[in-house]
Amino acid sequence: MEWNSGCIKAEVDLFNLACRPGKPIKHPLILICGNQTMNKILTIDDAEHYGLKQKAKISLGRFAAKAAPRRAKQLMLSPLSAPRGLRDKSIMAFLKHQARLEQREEFFEALHEDFWSGQGGDVFAENCDHRFEQMFLEKQKHDFEQLLKICATRAPHQIVEFGCNSGLLLNYMVQQFPNIKSAVGIDINRQQIERNRQADHFDPRIQFLTADGVDWVIENAEPNTLFVTNGGVMEYFRRSRLNLMMNRISAHLSPAIFFAIEPNASDHDLENNVNSIPFGEELSFSHNYKDLFVTNGFDVVHQRATTFESWKMTATIAVSD
Ligand SMILES: C[S@@+](CC[C@H](N)C(=O)[O-])C[C@H]1O[C@@H](n2cnc3c(N)ncnc32)[C@H](O)[C@@H]1O
Repeated sequence: MEWNSGCIKAEVDLFNLACRPGKPIKHPLILICGNQTMNKILTIDDAEHYGLKQKAKISLGRFAAKAAPRRAKQLMLSPLSAPRGLRDKSIMAFLKHQARLEQREEFFEALHEDFWSGQGGDVFAENCDHRFEQMFLEKQKHDFEQLLKICATRAPHQIVEFGCNSGLLLNYMVQQFPNIKSAVGIDINRQQIERNRQADHFDPRIQFLTADGVDWVIENAEPNTLFVTNGGVMEYFRRSRLNLMMNRISAHLSPAIFFAIEPNASDHDLENNVNSIPFGEELSFSHNYKDLFVTNGFDVVHQRATTFESWKMTATIAVSD
């Protein structure tokens, strides 16, 4: 398996957005979110080409990992998305570099899990909720109209959204589909789910749960469900786990509909390359969604790409009968 590389270099002009007084979050996603001037689309090339500062950090990390092998091993098994101190920061830079070269998908999945279950996921809504109106309602309008048509004949009973964050989309969707009896919003971020539970503006059919999205679907989902991921959620899971979930749905939970709005690297050749490749500064996965659904027993009935801020977003509707 080879992760290919493209050639368009997107210089990510990160600005220092203070997410909370005294607590700036320096994660690339939170920094990009809401930066209306940003329009260079993220690529695989961004992940593969380092500036001088990053090269120096990786070299330092190589030495630091040799000098402190136990710490390096700990960080390899439990990577930190916001390491503190020069030693941990440089070791993490080195480990990310190595993991990318060695195609260790589980390392990146653990890194994303650390970010989203912690403060990153907690402050996402504060900075990124404008995406519901500006991205979903505007840019994904056509895809949602297609979904409404497809659901008119299939009439799912339940909606499961994982990576629901502040729940804006789930609340909207529940009210758009007449046959929905119940809805489940799942997120790995406990604080965000707690806020949703305390809020009084949600449709009473919605239940919010803290869980890993893939694990929850595999263990709990039912037939006749509309599954939703929006704005980049499956990008944080490694392909082998997504395969398990899709396979479980098509083999045991049909009929089912999957509506996924996920980013792709703009230099990922989706016609010819089915690999899942880390991209952008965040190093999330650019998956080949058509291949993911088709090889796991779904029919892709709609697919369309659009752009928003620094992302190429691919909307996919897949069904299994
Ligand atoms: C980029 S945000 C998208 C949020 C929302 N869907 C939107 O469009 O605004 C990714 C979301 O996925 C959640 N997430 C990340 N990894 C997850 C996991 N393993 N299980 C469940 N949720 C996860 C994060 O906490 C976060 O809310």
